[in-house]
Amino acid sequence: MPIPKAELHLHIEGTLEPELAFALAARNGIELPYADTEELRKAYLFDDLQTFLNLYYSLMAVLRTEADFEELADAYLARAAEQGVRHAEIFFDPQAHTARGIPIGTVVEGLSRALDRSEERHGISTRLIMCFLRDQSADSALETLTAAEPHLHRIIGIGLDSAEVGHPPAKFRKVYEAAAARGLRLVAHAGEEGPPAYITEALDVLGVERIDHGLRCMEDPALVERLVRDRVPLTLCPLSNVRLRAIDVLEEHPLPQMLDAGLMCTVNSDDPAYFGGYVDDTFHAVREALGLDQERLRTLARNSFEAAFLDRDAADEAL
Ligand code: HPA
Ligand code: ZN
Repeated sequence: MPIPKAELHLHIEGTLEPELAFALAARNGIELPYADTEELRKAYLFDDLQTFLNLYYSLMAVLRTEADFEELADAYLARAAEQGVRHAEIFFDPQAHTARGIPIGTVVEGLSRALDRSEERHGISTRLIMCFLRDQSADSALETLTAAEPHLHRIIGIGLDSAEVGHPPAKFRKVYEAAAARGLRLVAHAGEEGPPAYITEALDVLGVERIDHGLRCMEDPALVERLVRDRVPLTLCPLSNVRLRAIDVLEEHPLPQMLDAGLMCTVNSDDPAYFGGYVDDTFHAVREALGLDQERLRTLARNSFEAAFLDRDAADEAL
């Protein structure tokens, strides 16, 4: 039995398996530039964030209707249930869809159809987090928040993703202030490819409650001390780090040192269709590659509920 856990760093668009991509392409009359799923899988070989993102955004062309988004989310939740996931906080990238002429309502309502049935069907409670693409303008992020207004009852918080370097958190100060004023929870990707200073900036300027990735905090001992003291959760994605070459091989992942330092680490899958594993696969991989014992795996699982946007009682119950 997989250990019960919460998944806190999961891009729903990153769960698009080649088989579903082809099925949706056929349904929507879209021609993919790959002969078959095998050829598409071969394209899932990239060695940096930008190369991955290019494929990731281009494949989203197959997602057009509410039913498409519903099917995508339901397929993820079914797999997540098999992986021991009891609670999932799911990212989506509205701008990647609105840029293609898909209204934000189609995305949110389609995903919500699957999320609304998730507890009953899959035994997984869910939350939705809307991410802004940091390589787009701050104004575009603000416009997206405005467009999301009619759907905010379905969205618990905001995040920041896409190409990190050259797009520091402070660029998005205004939209984070506006989101906080609306009672939304705040997270951001920082310190994946970008420097430790971006983590500090996400905390100080954006006021985020969790850091997505945060791997590069290890380069700054004072920052590590702060993250430990304030128990700031880090949503680590070790398989993603290897596939995008933030580290060379999983055996060199600093997760054990991060746990030794007292950091509030969680382990997540990021974009599992692309990075070679869902979250329990990731737990297995880090156990094997890094020799984590059962106690440490339990700590990671416990942290995932503690770091979730669940009230205390719900988190205790899930444990
Ligand atoms: N980093 C940045 N943007 C992303 C990622 C990631 O790992 N996955 C999907 N969008
Ligand atoms: Zn991510």
